[in-house]
Amino acid sequence: LTSKRYPVTRGQFSQITGDDINFFVNLLGSHRTITDAAELEGPNTDWLGIVRGSSATLLKPKTTEEVSAILSYCNKRKLAVCPQGGNTGLVGGSVPVFDEIIISTALMNEVESVDTLSGVVTCQSGCVLEALDNHVSQFGLMVPLDLGSKGSCHIGGNVSTNAGGLRLLRYGNLHGSVLGVEAVLASGEIVNCLSVMKKDNTGYDLKHLFIGSEGALGLITKVAINCPSRPQAVNLAFFGLQTFEDVLSIYKDVKSKLGEILSSCEFIDASSLECVEKNLKLKSPISAHPFYMLIETSGSNSTHDEEKLNTFMEEALESGKVTDGTIATEPSRMQNLWNIRERISESLVIEGYVHKYDISLPLPHFYKMVEDMRQHLGTAVIRCCGYGHIGDGNLHLNITSKEFDQELMSRIEPTIFEWTAKVNGSISAEHGIGFKKRNFIHYSKSHSAIALMRQLKSLMDPNGILNPYKVLPDNK
Ligand code: FAD
Ligand code: MLT
Ligand code: ZN
Repeated sequence: LTSKRYPVTRGQFSQITGDDINFFVNLLGSHRTITDAAELEGPNTDWLGIVRGSSATLLKPKTTEEVSAILSYCNKRKLAVCPQGGNTGLVGGSVPVFDEIIISTALMNEVESVDTLSGVVTCQSGCVLEALDNHVSQFGLMVPLDLGSKGSCHIGGNVSTNAGGLRLLRYGNLHGSVLGVEAVLASGEIVNCLSVMKKDNTGYDLKHLFIGSEGALGLITKVAINCPSRPQAVNLAFFGLQTFEDVLSIYKDVKSKLGEILSSCEFIDASSLECVEKNLKLKSPISAHPFYMLIETSGSNSTHDEEKLNTFMEEALESGKVTDGTIATEPSRMQNLWNIRERISESLVIEGYVHKYDISLPLPHFYKMVEDMRQHLGTAVIRCCGYGHIGDGNLHLNITSKEFDQELMSRIEPTIFEWTAKVNGSISAEHGIGFKKRNFIHYSKSHSAIALMRQLKSLMDPNGILNPYKVLPDNK
């Protein structure tokens, strides 16, 4: 499947032998050295069901020292590895391409410390995002990121992909929130950059090399993350709008009138909403519109915030920019509204093959791309829809077809990347480059930047064993 859709040749790595398995069993025990084909099916397949590896070995270390011993051994033996967290990645980075050994962080899920004064939390990389958020909530804190995949993704996976999500607008990206990282290099060397200080200007800030490098420079074993106070008052508005111009105008108004309590500003088009309604039977709380927005506020005074959001909605309705809307304040109603946005990706998968694009665009071009692609593809597709983190200029453009079709793929790529580059956007806003987009990276990165990336890769992983075939383009 993978090699037919994405031509790629296996690198000059060793093949795993019985002696190698014996080494891993001695280190981890047989229950943490998985070789059963049925158990490997899931970890070999990505969330979208598009790329599939053929690894015969999955390792489940519990400590940094075990990760170090595994990598040191693999490096000496030239065995390629694929680090894996919750396997919710959307660019094929989390699954092997050939027979790479999967190193899972599933059992590295200890929270080491919570500093209730500073809000800094130190934990192992395999903590599931939602579980970590629940854990810190007892101290009045929250993890500063939230994704639809929170029930499965790991904090280490989040850091490795520099995940964005629904509240980046308020809390910024992980290059800001992550204060420290501990990672193991391909050689097995443990790099301790696990600072818990908000300010630390002692030399190069090396943790940033691991944030967003998608498992290609090191395996993250621990993170220290700055957690803000958990808001006491959260309100959510769901708006229907007639034109995209109105969407942009409301975004501007939201920033100026709700700025200090604004925690999310999300966008859904009619086709995306129709997809969740049709495939997941979720119900929109308002009448059908071409566009929808979700506006969330988070603050400390519910009466004040509710009043502000109500006034905002009244004015927006009066101005005619919003033509239908509702506000939720109870957790269960808010969750129902969030489900409509968060479960769009799940509803698309039900339709068949999903061509998933995650693009940064200057706002005036944001929806034009969806319209142009829709026109360009016509009836060759089931759906061409747009949703995303409009407050961050991040469009999720998704195209569904019954099954994979090479002819359709060649009509989409590289057109979509050329379009993005022309308006100085980014071909990956938050999902990363992974396996699927590596040969398109030049649309968003200069030759000199790619050359420096290659130099860093060969310095930190001279044998190229860490997540090969990912991030960097093929050598042509
Ligand atoms: P995996 O998928 O297991 O791995 C992702 C990459 O990181 C791979 O390259 C892997 O090799 C590497 N990796 C994983 N763990 C480590 C480690 N400890 N050390 C080194 N490398 C590692 N993404 C967003 O940015 N924003 C969203 O809003 C968002 N919403 C999503 C909603 C749904 C329903 C789904 C399915 C996905 C969504 N994603 C989103 C994508 C995905 O959830 C994120 O990229 C997430 O951060 C991946 O975490 P994970 O633990 O599943 O990592
Ligand atoms: C989202 O924002 O819903 C995620 O990034 C997943 C997706 O793009 O489908
Ligand atoms: Zn997203």
